[in-house]
Amino acid sequence: MEMKEDKDARWFELECVPKDYIPLEENRPQNLDSPVCDSIPVIDLAKTNGPVKEILKGSQEFGFFQVINHGIPEKILIDALNVLKEFFYMQGKDAPTGTIPDKKGYIYNRSDFAKDGTHLWRENLKHPCHPLEKCTHLWPDTPTRYQEVIATYLVEIQKLSSRILEMIGEGLGLEQGYFKNTSEVQLLSSNFYPPCVDPSLTLGISAHFDTSLISVVYQGGSTGLQFIKDGEWINVGASPNAFVVNIGNQLEIISNRKLKSVQHRVVTSTHATRLSIATFVNPSLDCIVEPAKVLVNELEPSLYVGSQYKDYVQRTNAFGTYTAAILNAMQ
Ligand code: OGA
Ligand code: NI
Repeated sequence: MEMKEDKDARWFELECVPKDYIPLEENRPQNLDSPVCDSIPVIDLAKTNGPVKEILKGSQEFGFFQVINHGIPEKILIDALNVLKEFFYMQGKDAPTGTIPDKKGYIYNRSDFAKDGTHLWRENLKHPCHPLEKCTHLWPDTPTRYQEVIATYLVEIQKLSSRILEMIGEGLGLEQGYFKNTSEVQLLSSNFYPPCVDPSLTLGISAHFDTSLISVVYQGGSTGLQFIKDGEWINVGASPNAFVVNIGNQLEIISNRKLKSVQHRVVTSTHATRLSIATFVNPSLDCIVEPAKVLVNELEPSLYVGSQYKDYVQRTNAFGTYTAAILNAMQ
């Protein structure tokens, strides 16, 4: 994506990486030339047979897959990326960071912290999105098109994620509609990762697991997302019209660990800006999350104790310092 180079001196005119952006040595990206992964399945959703098997394979082996021919018009995707680009460009050096006041709103962060206290090389915008009609008017209202464009995008993500969850359910042998009334596209988290003079010293997002059932990420044509496989960081390749889907902790639990929630992170680049839109498809807050009954038997006993999703989020402090605010906003 083309970005003007004058957005903000804070990012673009830095000649070296400030100390508080450099993680502990063991957490720094060591080898940035890790192989681009051509083995996570790129699944053609227009194919009438086959996707279920491929989705299961990707979810079991890597915890990641990409989908193409998903039926979402390209214009909706480009509009969403553009309106976010505009949003991030509008945040000047003095822009206030937003919070979620009184159960509503959004969070904008110009450089939040990793769990170890280092600054991340990103700007981030998060807001709740369920139910859509109750949230839209609380999102940023500049650019003026923001609410309309992102709501249109999210309607498509709702449809796509239901389709994907239905296929995952089928692949696992769960009853039809297993996820239908108990999963929601709850949270959007958009990221702007500017170029960095020394990507070996910074992280856009540090290594983490997602709390979700599944996460659906649109990354345009950009790279930087990596996941771990056999102890090695692997780059997810760029495929402009694709969505990257990864399995989150809740689906690992429901599948009794047949599907894997896998650690991932984002590294920066010296020349390219990355913009990504992550959407978290989560269980409803009151839902009890536990291994599906049909997947538990004498030979394969339950590996998890069930827990209400809301409690899980609280107990694991799933959204760091924003956990309480985000939970409030989602009730
Ligand atoms: C996340 C995430 C990846 C990205 O928000 O949990 O992994 O590409 N995002 O920004
Ligand atoms: Ni993630």
